[in-house]
Amino acid sequence: MSGEATKRGVGIAGTGRAVPERVLSNFDLEKMVDTSNEWIVERTGIRERRIAGPNEATSDFAALAASRALEDAGISPGEVDLIIVATVTPDMIFPSTSCLVQAKLGATRAAAFDISAGCSGFIYGLWTGAQFVANGTYDAVLVIGAETLSRITDFTNRNTCVLFGDGAGACVLKAMEHGEGIIKTLLGADGSRGDLLMIPAGGSRLPASHETVDQRLHYIRMEGNKVYRFAVNILVDACKWTLDAAGLSESDIDYFIPHQANRRLIDIAAERLGVADRFYSNVEKYGNTSAASIPIALDEAVRSGKISDGDLIMLVGFGAGLTWGASIIRWCRGYFRAQSAGRSTAESDKAREPRGL
Ligand code: UT7
Repeated sequence: MSGEATKRGVGIAGTGRAVPERVLSNFDLEKMVDTSNEWIVERTGIRERRIAGPNEATSDFAALAASRALEDAGISPGEVDLIIVATVTPDMIFPSTSCLVQAKLGATRAAAFDISAGCSGFIYGLWTGAQFVANGTYDAVLVIGAETLSRITDFTNRNTCVLFGDGAGACVLKAMEHGEGIIKTLLGADGSRGDLLMIPAGGSRLPASHETVDQRLHYIRMEGNKVYRFAVNILVDACKWTLDAAGLSESDIDYFIPHQANRRLIDIAAERLGVADRFYSNVEKYGNTSAASIPIALDEAVRSGKISDGDLIMLVGFGAGLTWGASIIRWCRGYFRAQSAGRSTAESDKAREPRGL
């Protein structure tokens, strides 16, 4: 676990999301594997998910979500200091997807790296990016959660293929007064249970070979029941631990934005916390989009007016690793809007020299 620590406050100045156009419904899946719309809805709450087209990849959704977040924040790509992409489905093993996004955006002065923390990746990225802003190293950091899970989903395996979808969400981090914005974040991991959710082959342990491909080892393997039990408990515990650490209680939080893995487990966690009416869920439309699910849900909740200035929100995620993370944020979009309104166009268009080149 990690804790505290801001010299400057760090807030979210803008958000954006992007999902593929193609919809794959439960009825489509009924034609592909032995499943039914009823089973999927009852066990997961998912009705449809978005699936990338043949020429689309993670960096495409990431760049589009990022450009929308930048527009929302009122800053130009040239002002971005750092791009962090949280993903388990990079376009390729290297270069990093964040570098591909940097090029697509024309964010020429930005440093760029990826984070792999499964479905908790966005919160890991958020807290990592916040350190650079808090300590004064950078002024504008793009944090993106982006996935093309359909490329690592075995569409012959009904245990997993009904769960996942593609898309991206992004936010822009900027400095603000200490004590505002991101108030408390906790991260955690239990690597001893990493084998519950993994892709066995394609890395240095089991490189790609004809045998690994024949055995379908490049697809997601998940022990659904065990992950489910971990997920319900950690959703509740992560919220409680983070609230305790911040000296807050469940009743202080206006909106919870959990990782969208499964509607059933979100509902159970919300009930256990006694906040059933304040948990956001859009899993029925997008399925589980791993690192993208929290920022997609956040952007949706903000743009639909469910979250407004002054609200306290909690982001909470869990996933492969196993990992988890939770972050309490005072929503303060208006603070940044007032700031960008006060800037001249020349100032906001200013693309400064790349650092370190
Ligand atoms: O984002 C990362 C974290 N991931 C998660 O949080 C996922 C956590 N796990 C889950 O959400 C749930 O465990 C699942 C949705 C994956 C599965 O739901 P479940 O209620 O745990 O079902 P189960 O695995 O216990 O399977 C129950 C039955 C089995 O049949 P038998 O053995 O009882 O005859 C499965 O074979 O349901 C069967 N089944 C299906 N039936 C129809 C499994 N998948 C399907 C399917 N359609 N798609």
